[in-house]
Amino acid sequence: MEKLVSWNDAFSVGVKCIDDQHKQLVKIINCVQRVKNIEKDRKKTITVLNCLIRYTDTHFITEEKLMKEYDYPEYKEHQEEHEKLLMDIFNIHSLYEKGDITSNCLMVFLKDWLVCHILDTDRRCGLFLKAKGVS
Ligand SMILES: [Fe+2]
Ligand SMILES: [Fe+2]
Repeated sequence: MEKLVSWNDAFSVGVKCIDDQHKQLVKIINCVQRVKNIEKDRKKTITVLNCLIRYTDTHFITEEKLMKEYDYPEYKEHQEEHEKLLMDIFNIHSLYEKGDITSNCLMVFLKDWLVCHILDTDRRCGLFLKAKGVS
C-alpha cells in the first residue's frame, strides 16, 4: 500500500528537532491511513486522529518556543497559521466522528493539511533558525 505521505528531503527544514517531529507527524498521518484501509475501523481511526492532534499541539509548542527564543520576525503570522491548522483538524475530526464526511475525504484533507505548512512556512522559519546557529 502506498503511503499517504512519504518523507523526502524536500520536507527538511534543516533543524533536527523540527525535522524529527515532522517525521513523527508523517508517521502518524500514515498510520491513520493504515488503520482506515486495513482494519477499516472507524473508532480506531478516531483514536489515531486524536494522537495526531495531541502530537501536533506538542510540535507547534516546540516551534513557537524556538521562534520566540530567537526573535523570529514572522512569529505572529506563523503562530496564527498553527492556530488555523489546529482549528481545521478539530473540525475535520468532529465531522468524521459524526459521520458527516467519508474516510476518503479525511485522507484527502490529511494529505495536504500539514505538508503545505512544512514546505512553505516551516522551511522559511528553518532557514532563519539555521542562520542563527540552531541545528
Ligand atoms: Fe512544523
Ligand atoms: Fe509551523
